[in-house]
Amino acid sequence: MMGKVTYTIFGGTGDLSFRKLIPAFFNIHASGELDFNIVVIGRRDYTTNDYCQLAYEWVVKHARYKVDEVNWQTFCQIIHYIQMDLDNAMDYQKLMDYYQVNNMNNHIYYFAVAPSYFGIISNHLVSVNATNQAKVVVEKPFGNDLEDAKRLYQQLIYHFGEDNVYYIDHYLGKEMVRNIMTIRFANPMFASVWNREYIDYVEINALETLGVETRGNYYDHVGALNDMVANHLFQILSIVAMEPLAQLTSEQLKVNQLNVLTQLKPVDTNDVNQSIVLGQYDGYRNEMHVNTNSLTETYAAVKLYIDNPRWMGVPFIIQTGKKLDRKQMEVIIHFKPVPGYGKANILVIKIAPNEGVYYQFNIKQPGNSDAIIQTSMDFCQSCQDVFRINTPAAYERLLLALANSDHAMFSDWRLIETSWIYMNQLKQAIAHNAQNLRIYPQGSNASFLNQSLFSE
Ligand code: BG6
Repeated sequence: MMGKVTYTIFGGTGDLSFRKLIPAFFNIHASGELDFNIVVIGRRDYTTNDYCQLAYEWVVKHARYKVDEVNWQTFCQIIHYIQMDLDNAMDYQKLMDYYQVNNMNNHIYYFAVAPSYFGIISNHLVSVNATNQAKVVVEKPFGNDLEDAKRLYQQLIYHFGEDNVYYIDHYLGKEMVRNIMTIRFANPMFASVWNREYIDYVEINALETLGVETRGNYYDHVGALNDMVANHLFQILSIVAMEPLAQLTSEQLKVNQLNVLTQLKPVDTNDVNQSIVLGQYDGYRNEMHVNTNSLTETYAAVKLYIDNPRWMGVPFIIQTGKKLDRKQMEVIIHFKPVPGYGKANILVIKIAPNEGVYYQFNIKQPGNSDAIIQTSMDFCQSCQDVFRINTPAAYERLLLALANSDHAMFSDWRLIETSWIYMNQLKQAIAHNAQNLRIYPQGSNASFLNQSLFSE
């Protein structure tokens, strides 16, 4: 680990910063795991004190440590708000002067801004000699399309060097996403049946009750496919489906994940209605900064197949949506039933809001009957305080991993590029079919929308 670290957040007054980054930084501060400063860059004319006051309620709501007067005061002392116009070269010199006066080194730049700013900020940082040895973290979506993403990638690695660029996918920091490999590979009863012979189909769900909140401007340009499917859900899919790792290295993990994504079968343009459902919640077009005629999807479900011997013919049904009836992030493995012996076994890896593992299996009905009935084992990890306090929120884990230069916790350019390529093909198939966007009532149950994907 390097000495005292300086995180600079470009886009420090956005939703991501208040909802995720600042509470995660507060947790790190409260746990005493790292010595650091946070420089928050925003366009608004705030003082550090104003910023702290704004951040307070978000931290109280989202941090896992209790906020008290003492830890809040000491936390605010490591925050430095700086007003900047990201297009103005002079402002970057001002930033450098601030770093120097306050003896801030070991820089990690967090680009929590629209991708169109990635290039602008890095060019300015280069011109004030601020990129040497620095790390840069980029949020998704990485670019507006494949060509844009390639351009950005070249630009970032040219300025910062390949090893210093980190691509955040905060799902990789989630406790139960990290647990998928352990559950799968460390238990022979699952490891030995993880294939088409025993698995009927797999569901990966990321259902939310929240709408687009204040992010209409961003969301209306990306939609559910690029906001959730192409990154978080593809990460999970590739971990669930990849081949066992020959070596426990970050590189091997990425290569195996990449193999899954390159083996995804293109959706057949003649079969789009059986493979894809897109929806938009009623009232979305009235949200702030959303086009009143918007055709952006806030719900997407896609049935995918992986073209390799392990998974040939096994559907992976991936769905995500906003303003649904519940928040539920999970992976569900539906095993094939044994003919004549009860119902199918089901394994659920619960990611959020509860963390845990649920397994449904068959037993003989207790007593004189030999009938087969279903029972279950339900391990709730987040119900046990001892695990809860030791389970760092995803961003907290990733921010620490950055300071430790741990690439295993981050996505990878090859995965991003392959996801873009697949999404382009998927979107062409959708456009070719002029598929209808289903308007769904707020609070809908997802099964109301996705029926067509489950019928063979
Ligand atoms: C973000 C998406 O990456 O993930 C949001 O941009 C989504 O639209 C969020 O709400 C969900 O993350 P979490 O951690 O709340 O499940």
